[in-house]
Amino acid sequence: MNVTTEEEKMAQRLLDEAVWAPSVHNTQPWWFGTRGSTVTVHAELERRLSVADPDGREMLISCGAALYTLRLAARHLGRHPHVRFLSDPGRPGLIADVAVGEPGQATVEEERMYAQIRRRRTHRGGFRLEGLPAGLLQTLRTHAYDEGVMLRIVADPRARIALAALTEVAEQTHRQNPAYAAEMAHWAPRPGSARLDGVHDDAYPQTHEHTDPYFAERDFARGQGWGLLGDDQQDATGVVVLITTDTDERPDWLRAGQALQRVLLRATEDGVCAAFHTQALEIPQLRDFIRAGYCDGAYPQMILRLGFADSEIASVRRPSADVSRPEP
Ligand SMILES: Cc1cc2nc3c(=O)[nH]c(=O)nc-3n(C[C@H](O)[C@H](O)[C@H](O)COP(=O)(O)O)c2cc1C
Repeated sequence: MNVTTEEEKMAQRLLDEAVWAPSVHNTQPWWFGTRGSTVTVHAELERRLSVADPDGREMLISCGAALYTLRLAARHLGRHPHVRFLSDPGRPGLIADVAVGEPGQATVEEERMYAQIRRRRTHRGGFRLEGLPAGLLQTLRTHAYDEGVMLRIVADPRARIALAALTEVAEQTHRQNPAYAAEMAHWAPRPGSARLDGVHDDAYPQTHEHTDPYFAERDFARGQGWGLLGDDQQDATGVVVLITTDTDERPDWLRAGQALQRVLLRATEDGVCAAFHTQALEIPQLRDFIRAGYCDGAYPQMILRLGFADSEIASVRRPSADVSRPEP
């Protein structure tokens, strides 16, 4: 007999949200163990990008984003999540337990952010010429700070130009690397694919407005002309921000991922979208250069642009049933 307890149902509800976290190339590099209402987060190491992300930094940022989503979903259920970080040399993918703790009503802001989990989409392209809502950047900085990381706003136009140029260098360097191109091809399926992971052709535009400065997009279409047709003029770069950490270890990557999702959900609440440009952070020399020149020596974990956009971007996920099993 298959009896589902209230506790198991609660874990199920957390997982149904967690799978909507963003992940590099939509690799969804996670699986979840369940025991009662406790969810154990694991990195699925075979889904790491072995060329672009050999250390698993972006993989753990992605898992951190899923972890924050679990925490927020627990708040929505009116409970306090208790996170215990785990490390076991015998199980290198093991990340953390999220236990559903004592009752405590979610705040209005938590409820609003929760409502964005499935609505949020990664934007690829220019933004409308429209400033961000007053006070939003400061609010996002506070959310990042509360997760133990820093959200840096790149206000200096020269720094924006330089970061855009470094992104272009990284993108062209990647495109010259056959191993990188093969990895990219694996995670950017051809149109019509039934896969439930990767970046599909309805997630990016066919052509890009050339914003000034221009942040190069990833080459998901690989010259095949794939992508969404758009007719609206969106040619603003948006606000460029960096997420940085003081050190550069596993816990920092998980912190950066939790902060990333928290910042994205809060921005989405105000209708603000984010475009990601992490290409330069995948090339150690360029990452060092950005660290020294634009982060006061802190470690850059994410480069984002924020703004308003009108586009109907789609995304896919593996269902929670496919990525969870009883915790051994
Ligand atoms: C660590 C990390 C790095 C990412 N880097 C990029 C990037 O360089 N370019 C891009 O277009 N999207 C990037 N993304 C966004 C993912 O492609 C996106 O989250 C995934 O395709 C799922 O789509 P969704 O966010 O619309 O749900 C990144 C996401 C994460 C978590």
